[in-house]
Amino acid sequence: MNTATRLRAALADRLAEDGTPMEPEWGSAVRAVPRELFTGSYFRPVAGSAPTSYRPVREGEPGWLEGVYSDETLITQLDGRIRADDVSEEAVHGSPSSSSTLPSLVLRMWHRLGAEPGHRVLEIGTGTGYSTALGAHRLGDGSLTSIEYDPVVGAAAAAALKAANFAPRLVIGDGLRGDPDGGRYDRLIATCSVRYIPLPWLHQVEPGGRILVTLSGWGYANALALLDVTGPGEATGRFLPGCTSFMIARPHDRPPRPTLALLPGEERPSRIDPAKLDDWTGGWIAQLAAPSAERLGAGAEQILWDVSTGSQARTARDHDGGWTVVQHGPVRLWDRVEQAVHRWQAAGEPRQEEFGITVSPTGQQVWLRTEDGPGWDLPI
Ligand SMILES: C[S@@+](CC[C@H](N)C(=O)[O-])C[C@H]1O[C@@H](n2cnc3c(N)ncnc32)[C@H](O)[C@@H]1O
Repeated sequence: MNTATRLRAALADRLAEDGTPMEPEWGSAVRAVPRELFTGSYFRPVAGSAPTSYRPVREGEPGWLEGVYSDETLITQLDGRIRADDVSEEAVHGSPSSSSTLPSLVLRMWHRLGAEPGHRVLEIGTGTGYSTALGAHRLGDGSLTSIEYDPVVGAAAAAALKAANFAPRLVIGDGLRGDPDGGRYDRLIATCSVRYIPLPWLHQVEPGGRILVTLSGWGYANALALLDVTGPGEATGRFLPGCTSFMIARPHDRPPRPTLALLPGEERPSRIDPAKLDDWTGGWIAQLAAPSAERLGAGAEQILWDVSTGSQARTARDHDGGWTVVQHGPVRLWDRVEQAVHRWQAAGEPRQEEFGITVSPTGQQVWLRTEDGPGWDLPI
């Protein structure tokens, strides 16, 4: 048994021991798919760096193969263009734009999707092609189509899939537009996140079919949703437990912004502890309440910035142990966040699995506990 085969088997055993939900057929897929063909060289975040910098781990260097078979996300592209093999420096800065998702999450997602042989499945975000290969091993090449936005990433995935003897249908394009030539699907799985559910998906998936996607936004908060398609253009779903995050779909990404300049505005005491936004669900609530704002800062010093209107909110600690907020511009971002956080606190600060989502041709709402509970419109 060569080293890669041994490491692959050890990864499958470890995932099973750690409780990753995995039918035996998915375990066989992990034992069969050579992840190293898909990742090639990759980046590792440098511990303690701020802003995060990334060290290239080149194919063949000591520790490279062990890293490939760790249960970790391996970043394979920064800023939509930089690959680890392109970097001559010790470490570089950048924003991750493609990766191979950690295997336990890939398996958990395939499990939650309930994809079985016979289903037609559409994957959005081929990335390295590793999750596509696992899916093709379990479901068969003919059942799976995968769409990748970035042509360079898509070409590398196509080569890796071919080298590993898989042949699912691959498309280069914007997966948010669905697969116009693909007909109807039973399942759709997205490994990039979205600000709202793209309408083409709701016509592409058969009524009775499922969509699994992470809802994210400009505030960097994420929650994984599983939706049942109930009719053309209609779906309803719940958010799943756990802290799942994915890079945002490129067309849903934040608008470019200039260097931050803090602007003067109206100052008043804050009615909530700004650090609530650092909580996984608290930050998500803030993002639902102010979806046009990017969130910067942390702890007592939060900054919300809506570049399209120039609106800003920034908080700070005051001398009495409380907090102040300064708001600038036409959108009172902090007023919205405070109101939403109060509603969440009044409900006992539930985690995201107590939230649901309803999608119809006229709008998309996230709600707490029941459809007529507190709700927020998504920015479609
Ligand atoms: C986290 S990676 C995918 C991981 C991949 N499934 C794997 O296991 O290797 C996310 C990918 O989504 C792609 N992406 C972003 N926006 C997209 C879009 N609108 N349509 C299709 N792919 C998109 C990115 O280019 C990136 O390669």
